[in-house]
Amino acid sequence: MKKLTGHHFLQVPGPSNVPETVLLAMARATIDHRGPEFQVLTKAILNGFESLFDFQDPVVMYPSSGTGAWVAALINCLSPGEKVLAFETGQFATLWKVIALELGLDVMFEQGDWRSAVDPDRLETILREDTSANIKAVCIVHNETSTAVTSDIGSIRQAMDAANHPALLLVDTVSSLASLPYHHKEWGVDVTVGGSQKGLMLPPGLGLNVVSNKARKAAKSASLPKAYWNWEAIIDANGNGFFPYTPPTNLLYGLAEAQKLLFDEGMTQVYARHARYGAATRAAAQAWGLETVCRQPENHSNSLTALLLPDGVDADEVRRLALEKFNISLGTGLGKLSKKAFRIGHMGDFNDLMLTGTLTGVEMALNLSGVEFQKGGVAVAMNYLQENH
Ligand SMILES: Cc1ncc(COP(=O)(O)O)c(C=O)c1O
Repeated sequence: MKKLTGHHFLQVPGPSNVPETVLLAMARATIDHRGPEFQVLTKAILNGFESLFDFQDPVVMYPSSGTGAWVAALINCLSPGEKVLAFETGQFATLWKVIALELGLDVMFEQGDWRSAVDPDRLETILREDTSANIKAVCIVHNETSTAVTSDIGSIRQAMDAANHPALLLVDTVSSLASLPYHHKEWGVDVTVGGSQKGLMLPPGLGLNVVSNKARKAAKSASLPKAYWNWEAIIDANGNGFFPYTPPTNLLYGLAEAQKLLFDEGMTQVYARHARYGAATRAAAQAWGLETVCRQPENHSNSLTALLLPDGVDADEVRRLALEKFNISLGTGLGKLSKKAFRIGHMGDFNDLMLTGTLTGVEMALNLSGVEFQKGGVAVAMNYLQENH
């Protein structure tokens, strides 16, 4: 491939752009993970999670991708053959379901159209019908990264409470944590699943579970083999600032710095910034005459946008042109949306010029590819950004 010059725009919906101070923090020498300096680092990070996200429950970190954190959530609190309820919102919900099946769980997978959020009313109906409480856990992907659809976890909690159902609530926040408002405690989430490479502005490689008391209690009698993923061994070692295995020390340096950046900006501002970029991108899409994958305006994601191309147009061809001509990586269509849609990431360390640069790359690639569309989306986004400071 030809060497591309200048700054590369990494606008896939994760990994996101890693800020320079985070990269520099990770470039320090690795220290003894059983020494006093490491203890201080772990404790600072755990406190950081509490102040940023009000995580009062233990945060269990793994050297893993988000997929590992999915496995950890299921393995810790369930036993072979137990029933879990999941919703087909898109590719990531489907992949989590496949893992649950591989672990020997009995998955009830509510069919979806890959364009909509989880319907809390449907959830309530299913739980009300489950009169003997056979469903042990409900698995929800908060922000479905394959479709750019955000489900309403507050309403999902209300539906579970209205049905008076005891199932655990497991929520995947891989592409929402630190980008979209999220309330683990207020929403009574039992396991929050996260990853490092999106809103947290780190490279890939760190997965996490935030674990409620109810989930820890369930874990005591759950019998899937926990091995490496055992929450209690990690929570116990973390109490002294350590890990039961060799931790990803340099990623943790980066995490401490990323937490500082989020803290300095303030989470209210971080969420408002993402909302503004989501709205500006959708304004551009509307001007281009392109349809979002997401059908319901109230469920549009603010950390990424997924756009459909007219029938017969290969979305990967637009992505190929964008990369080859303008040095920008856009997200490919996944699973059922392969070649039909492409995705624009606008999460993490991001500013107005990065967004307008990104949208300019998209508009030029659309133009070169010969897709039928209206020019002028970038100008509309620019106006939106100027009018909405
Ligand atoms: C919502 C969601 N869940 C889970 C994952 C899987 O994470 P990983 O690719 O880090 O294993 C992803 C990855 O993009 C994701 O977007």
